[in-house]
Amino acid sequence: MKQIYMDNSSTSFPKAPGLGKIMGEHIDQSGMNMGRGGYSASFHLEQIAVETKEKLCAFFNGTHSRNVIFTSGATLGLNMIINGLLEPGDRVVTTSVEHNAVARPLHALTKKGVHWERFPSAPDGSLLMEDITRTLAPQTKLVIATHASNVSGSLISLGPIAEFCNKHHIFFVVDGAQTAGSQTMDMAALGLDGLVVPGHKSLLGPQGIGALILSDRLAAALHPTVLGGTGSRSDLLEMPDFLPDRFEPGTLNIPGIVGLNYALTFLMEQGVETIRDQKELLSQRFLEGLSVIDEVRLIGPGMGMPRESVFSLVFNHRDQGETAFLLERDYGILTRSGLHCAPLAHQALGTFPQGSVRFSFGYFTTAVEVDAALLAIQKIAAR
Ligand SMILES: Cc1ncc(COP(=O)(O)O)c(C=O)c1O
Repeated sequence: MKQIYMDNSSTSFPKAPGLGKIMGEHIDQSGMNMGRGGYSASFHLEQIAVETKEKLCAFFNGTHSRNVIFTSGATLGLNMIINGLLEPGDRVVTTSVEHNAVARPLHALTKKGVHWERFPSAPDGSLLMEDITRTLAPQTKLVIATHASNVSGSLISLGPIAEFCNKHHIFFVVDGAQTAGSQTMDMAALGLDGLVVPGHKSLLGPQGIGALILSDRLAAALHPTVLGGTGSRSDLLEMPDFLPDRFEPGTLNIPGIVGLNYALTFLMEQGVETIRDQKELLSQRFLEGLSVIDEVRLIGPGMGMPRESVFSLVFNHRDQGETAFLLERDYGILTRSGLHCAPLAHQALGTFPQGSVRFSFGYFTTAVEVDAALLAIQKIAAR
């Protein structure tokens, strides 16, 4: 049976064509360190790192490539912001559908006196305009919003939040885990202070590499939370005060950087708009097919609504975990069931604690695969 991978929200698969080869060649032929060696191979790797940052900066329209900090993924970037910025007494606001990468570090800080509030969520996981201004108060220090829910696929309207934050000088950070590489993002136009992206989802790179892109204002206010050697200002016991070194201690994931650099070139050749439009067509095809299947409930925006190609389904009278098992065993379809590391989202969407079965498409998902998934859903629902 042919496998049909529908867990791209977790990590994209396949990756950019040729990614493994390019990373393997790097490790076998020039797997040295950078920023620490006084030899040309090390300088060359440093150039690749800078080039990768320039691509990321251009891709998301950030301020400057030095404001791009390599991380291991979205989780580390979010932790660096949350733990490096918030002090007891500070107020932080998020959406109601945040991933545990935001929820867990914030929950830990509430025990130290940080006040955390959430925008109420519409039934499909989107944000209601009137709730934005009602929840945001000028004394808020930080707002974090996921660009899209990894449960419902709802796209969060960032514009109105950005407008309020810019007006009141509130730091606004976006978790781009579900949209980086599949939706356009313009940090400068929105006036964002931070964008967190993983390399391994729609950017089609490897696991273990991601980026945190900072505005100058947020970079100046942020304290480094991981300290160590940077290969620069080794005479100091303090972290250097310049970017990116202030936030990049330790040996970086150079094979990951090489891979991400390669994947970004591939993405730029395809064009994010093309990727977005292609996935949108598949989404509408899937939604149309779902609309005639009984005993299955879609959680999230329906046909014609803005969304990511992430679909949570609840199979009536069935265990969601068992359904995911049947999908693989009988149809070769790989999905993810449960709470998707986002219990708050499931609470907001009314699917806690049973969760859902999540289907998520990637750039390489085909219409044939979508139709096969619809047929499998129909058959399992009718059993
Ligand atoms: C919305 C959201 N934020 C953060 C993360 C964490 O990303 P990573 O595993 O790359 O750290 C995920 C992962 O699925 C996610 O969906």
